[in-house]
Amino acid sequence: MRHGLKKSPSFKAGMYLLETLTSGMYNEPLSIYREYIQNSVDSIDLKNTKGKSKHKIEITLDPFNKCITISDNGIGLPSEIAEKILSNIGSSEKKNTGLRGFRGIGRLGGLAFSKNATFYTKAAEEKVESIQEWDCEKLRQYMSDPDTPQMSLKQLFRRITNFSQQNNKPKYGSYFKVILNGVSSFRNYVFDIDRVRNYLSEVAPLPFNTDSFSYGDEIDSYLQAKLRRYSNYEVILNGDKLFKRYRDNIRPTKKGFDYIDNVKLLELVVDDASIAYGWYGERRDLLGAISKGDVPSGLRVRVGNILLGDAHLLDGCFREDRFNSYLIGEIHVEHPELIPNSRRDDFVDNELKTRLYDAIEQEIGLPLSKEIRYRSRTKSKQGNLSKSSSAIVNVNQPKLVHEELHSPEMIKEEEHKAIDIVKEVNQNCKGCPRLSKILSLISEK
Ligand SMILES: Nc1ncnc2c1ncn2[C@@H]1O[C@H](COP(=O)(O)OP(=O)(O)OP(=O)(O)O)[C@@H](O)[C@H]1O
Ligand SMILES: [Mg+2]
Repeated sequence: MRHGLKKSPSFKAGMYLLETLTSGMYNEPLSIYREYIQNSVDSIDLKNTKGKSKHKIEITLDPFNKCITISDNGIGLPSEIAEKILSNIGSSEKKNTGLRGFRGIGRLGGLAFSKNATFYTKAAEEKVESIQEWDCEKLRQYMSDPDTPQMSLKQLFRRITNFSQQNNKPKYGSYFKVILNGVSSFRNYVFDIDRVRNYLSEVAPLPFNTDSFSYGDEIDSYLQAKLRRYSNYEVILNGDKLFKRYRDNIRPTKKGFDYIDNVKLLELVVDDASIAYGWYGERRDLLGAISKGDVPSGLRVRVGNILLGDAHLLDGCFREDRFNSYLIGEIHVEHPELIPNSRRDDFVDNELKTRLYDAIEQEIGLPLSKEIRYRSRTKSKQGNLSKSSSAIVNVNQPKLVHEELHSPEMIKEEEHKAIDIVKEVNQNCKGCPRLSKILSLISEK
């Protein structure tokens, strides 16, 4: 073995990493709103632990000037640490604080769609405002120009950002403001106010509108009592206060209306520990999926009251994927091992994630799938009954009844029943040496 001076291995974090962390991160440009709102609510939570205050997050879209502003009156950043914090990439002071962000990359989302991005912030009891500017156009030039010399991430950061401070603000109040200028995205959806409103009403931690959804207060008190980090926040979009879009009456794809007669409050337990709480609305008729564009359909997963994935994340927990869209409801997950992945479209893979999905399937997905099938069966039987009673006066009565018993719907129902039985046997008899024999007997029947 040779002894001598230890040479540290050469390491370079190259400039293209930044591209991965900006345009490479989100295939949905609207995700940038989620990232900035997440930062704002973390900051408001930090402020509120130091005493209650009136919080607010304001978003302004100005399509004519291609400008987006997102601001909050959370805790802000003190002047002596602002530069250090805003110069961190892929590392966060929030780690292990129980706050929602922890990767130190979310604020970079807007860079991919803007010509320049500026962060302004100030802490309470200070006159100093800290400003960090990003020249995103220059960033894109460096990325695309083949003649640009290779740079480290640090060299690139120095060339495209500028940090300054000014000591002339009123002492009172704290804030963080993001201004994105020269914004454009695919079809400019980021400026489509209806799209943005819909997106935020499903994703952001907004209050229920108790004028149209009478269970909002009951759900809030339950979740507040059970979860450490459950709260809702005032978010204003171009002057309008936003709410979650749940209502007592819903429009199914089949004609007419259905009604939420009650909400079921849930607790999911794995190994004697609660890992999630939630609710779903009990529909009076439960016939047909909820129409697209009506209330947010599907049992949805939230972490820190921010949506994870989309309306279809839990489809696989139901007998048929489409059954999820018969429901409204939320599963709020709170456990240190259940961590949203960096794109926030699912959890990081691990054993507990599997157990969470299994629990949702067993406790909610399967019983509700059965209920949906049962209701549709009873309804179609009722339909058949009324048809056959009118058929009594019909000379072709015996033929009609025979046809109904073998109608495509009835055959499909029977097939579904058989699939259910096989699935249940499979689940409950895992490891049984006679399992394959039993399954073949069932399939013969
Ligand atoms: N609205 C805000 N108010 C106060 N501080 C903020 C705000 N937005 C960002 N910051 C500060 O900037 C840091 C970096 O934000 P960024 O979104 O990049 O990372 P993060 O929130 O720590 O983690 P993640 O990547 O998971 O979002 C935050 O940790 C926070 O200290
Ligand atoms: Mg963040």
